[in-house]
Amino acid sequence: MYSQALLECSVGELVAQDYRRAHVFSRFGIDFCCGGGRPLKEACDRADADPSEVMQALLHSAATGAAEDQLDKLPLAELIDYIEATHHTYVREKAPLLLEYAAKMVRAHGENYSEIKPLAGWIRALVDDLMPHLLKEEQILFPAIRALAAGEQVNGCFGHIGNPVRAMEYEHEDAGNVLKKLRELTGDFTPPPHACTTWRICYHTLAEFEADLHRHIHLENNVLFPKTLKLTQG
Ligand SMILES: [Fe+2]
Ligand SMILES: [Fe+2]
Repeated sequence: MYSQALLECSVGELVAQDYRRAHVFSRFGIDFCCGGGRPLKEACDRADADPSEVMQALLHSAATGAAEDQLDKLPLAELIDYIEATHHTYVREKAPLLLEYAAKMVRAHGENYSEIKPLAGWIRALVDDLMPHLLKEEQILFPAIRALAAGEQVNGCFGHIGNPVRAMEYEHEDAGNVLKKLRELTGDFTPPPHACTTWRICYHTLAEFEADLHRHIHLENNVLFPKTLKLTQG
């Protein structure tokens, strides 16, 4: 099984089969959400990771612990319930906190440390991207997917369901790029030795926020959306 066939499988598909693999990919810097369509071999090359080491780690992950979940087995309406209850709720809880930390840091350190104001700007950009994105999913795309899954006619103003799906994928990519900027700016969310408590909590929250958003986008791009598009092909 851990052979050529695995190397040719897309990373998104591998994670959809078993979420434990996401931890392995994160560890090796392999992008499994926006870059989830790439075969494992290509994803390893891009991340400069040794494919045999990655395969070894995948083997180990399969042998230890229970699968965290079987989300790809859920009916679409339940998967949407899960995404909204878990990940949309998470973003709404944490985004205001990140803005608050950033504002405090600007007030306390903005004049003395050059990275603080750009950091606050990118946090604002991330929140401004995500809030309307959640609403578009909740009010337009997800109700349409629920209707399709229930075998009902979908009368959206958007034409084929592939259109809003693609629009959401573009927005995921934008959010992913903002997160990359934040990672760069903060040295992988590592607070400097002189960082105050708010600064430390802010970086810690950003790292957690990134992990949650990666998982969220993975579930939409690699599980929910492909299954939705399949429904329209039947
Ligand atoms: Fe979402
Ligand atoms: Fe989304």
